[in-house]
Amino acid sequence: MSEKKFEKLCNFFRLKRSARVVDIACGKGEFLVRLAELYDVVGVGVDISPYCIKDCLEKKRKRIPSSALTFIEMDGKKYKPEAYEFYDLALCIGASWVYGGHRGTLQTLKKMTKPGGLIAVGEPFWLQEPSEGYLKVEGMRKEEFGTHYDNVKVGEEEGLTCIYTLVSNHDDWDHYETYQIWAVDDYIQGNPDDPDNQELLTRTKRIKETYFLWGRETLGWAIYIFRKPR
Ligand SMILES: C[S@@+](CC[C@H](N)C(=O)[O-])C[C@H]1O[C@@H](n2cnc3c(N)ncnc32)[C@H](O)[C@@H]1O
Repeated sequence: MSEKKFEKLCNFFRLKRSARVVDIACGKGEFLVRLAELYDVVGVGVDISPYCIKDCLEKKRKRIPSSALTFIEMDGKKYKPEAYEFYDLALCIGASWVYGGHRGTLQTLKKMTKPGGLIAVGEPFWLQEPSEGYLKVEGMRKEEFGTHYDNVKVGEEEGLTCIYTLVSNHDDWDHYETYQIWAVDDYIQGNPDDPDNQELLTRTKRIKETYFLWGRETLGWAIYIFRKPR
């Protein structure tokens, strides 16, 4: 998604000061750090990657050192909140495999969220029927994802109310995919003798082939905001 869309979304949350937030598979912690900057939330970020957790801590130190943000390096699947129904907002953006898919993610986050609280998940969806070639190259199964409507419906079947969706458009996707190609190009220009360059180029070649040939018209992405009933 674009920076502008992300900022707009963060403003929509209108969280109370010291609201409790958890972010499973928090990556480099941008979501939590933004929410701490905006609302002074008490937040926990969980990620399995030591590199990501290191970046989260660094980001916190640089941008909002006095915030009540904690980052934990662990498998999100094993994370246990202090109590059930503990959080005002539970996030899992782009990592639903941690809980076996979209439904499993919503079921787990629902348990962590207070009645009346919010759940935000980022999930891909099919824009059209995926071709066999695309599924093969990406190592995906069609059943792994639903349509945009399915993603909303699954949440509602779980007793949640979908109150907002933020959908990435072609411009957002093009930036996300092709900026990686530019970053690799920059790196190779500056490090022409790195032995990993060939591998990096193989990756960007794959991005070009699969994204432009299939992905751009086949796979969508959205963040879904659900309200848990009181
Ligand atoms: C696509 S990134 C999304 C990161 C972040 N949510 C964001 O939107 O920027 C997926 C993240 O999931 C983390 N991850 C993968 N498996 C995990 C697991 N079992 N438990 C916790 N984090 C996991 C990765 O380290 C990575 O940071």
